[in-house]
Amino acid sequence: MNRPVVTGGAGFIGSSLVRGLLAAGAGRVTVVDNLLTGREENLEEVRGSVELIRADIRNYAELAAALRGAGTVFHLAAIPSVPRSISDPVPSHEVNVDGTFNVLRACAEGGVRRVVYAASSSAYGGSEVLPKVESMAPDPRSPYAAQKLAGEYLARTFHLCFGVETVSLRYFNVYGPRQDPSSPYSGVLSLFIRSLLERTPPLIHGDGGQSRDFTFVEDVVDITIKAARARSAAGGVYNAGNGGRYTLNSVWDLLQSIEGVKIPARYGPPRGGDVRHSQADVTAAARDLGHRPRFSLEEGLRRTVAWHRDARMKKSGGS
Ligand code: UD1
Repeated sequence: MNRPVVTGGAGFIGSSLVRGLLAAGAGRVTVVDNLLTGREENLEEVRGSVELIRADIRNYAELAAALRGAGTVFHLAAIPSVPRSISDPVPSHEVNVDGTFNVLRACAEGGVRRVVYAASSSAYGGSEVLPKVESMAPDPRSPYAAQKLAGEYLARTFHLCFGVETVSLRYFNVYGPRQDPSSPYSGVLSLFIRSLLERTPPLIHGDGGQSRDFTFVEDVVDITIKAARARSAAGGVYNAGNGGRYTLNSVWDLLQSIEGVKIPARYGPPRGGDVRHSQADVTAAARDLGHRPRFSLEEGLRRTVAWHRDARMKKSGGS
């Protein structure tokens, strides 16, 4: 792949994508990241093949200089989290909406052929029909969901009006190595795994009966690279999910059985803006992108637990 650039490439998903691009033959990958939530150490062993440009997507001039002449831009930079977008909506709006507009504008002006945009399953929101198909009317229930959906609409209009080949991928609850559990806004599985390894009860918001289509990061990397190559995908929106659905209670059970422990969870009030159930229909992604998820939840969790255990050992100076 020619001159790929990854915005948010020092983050959890972005840094895995950088590795995937290098493994797929990209000689060098440019990363644009402001290192607000991304970390240089996420790129540790691939640092020699990465050009890291410390720029903020809210700053158009910096961004345009970084993206000019890129072959494909993977736009993953974002401020994630539904609850964060409710408690502090301005920064996430500025990054997720204004920043996405800046990325698209810089790509149009800089002659970039294709942009793959990290959209979100949160766009489906409250609709009760399962699984979620791309043709359903969106129903965003939080500023985060609306922001990510706005990004999709912008991507599509940049395709229609300015000829940039955009592909939006609605990522479904991604988990895996390098997901940071250190914030209360972190993805639930990173928090569950930290509890598991610390032998402390996790906090479940609500009754734990809510379900998600948890998707292993390697599968997300795979579909993202395929979206950059698929000829017929320009202007499209695709689910990037696993196709399964697990309640929080069942995932906590699975994690305990993987680790061979029994730690009852704590339950608190439900979280504002929360969606009850989420599951991807993966037909369109298989048909148009040739993507089929490879990792079962159990396999993905085993790998993620092993990675976290290792990382904790390294941090504490063990071997
Ligand atoms: C949403 C999107 C997801 C997106 C993510 C970005 C949906 C269906 N999914 O994820 O595609 O990538 O935003 O942030 O909208 N929970 C607990 N205990 C905790 C933390 C969370 O019980 O300590 C619960 C939440 O209330 C929620 C579930 O776990 O029901 C998942 O939460 P989280 O990991 O934050 O992701 P979503 O908000 O589902």
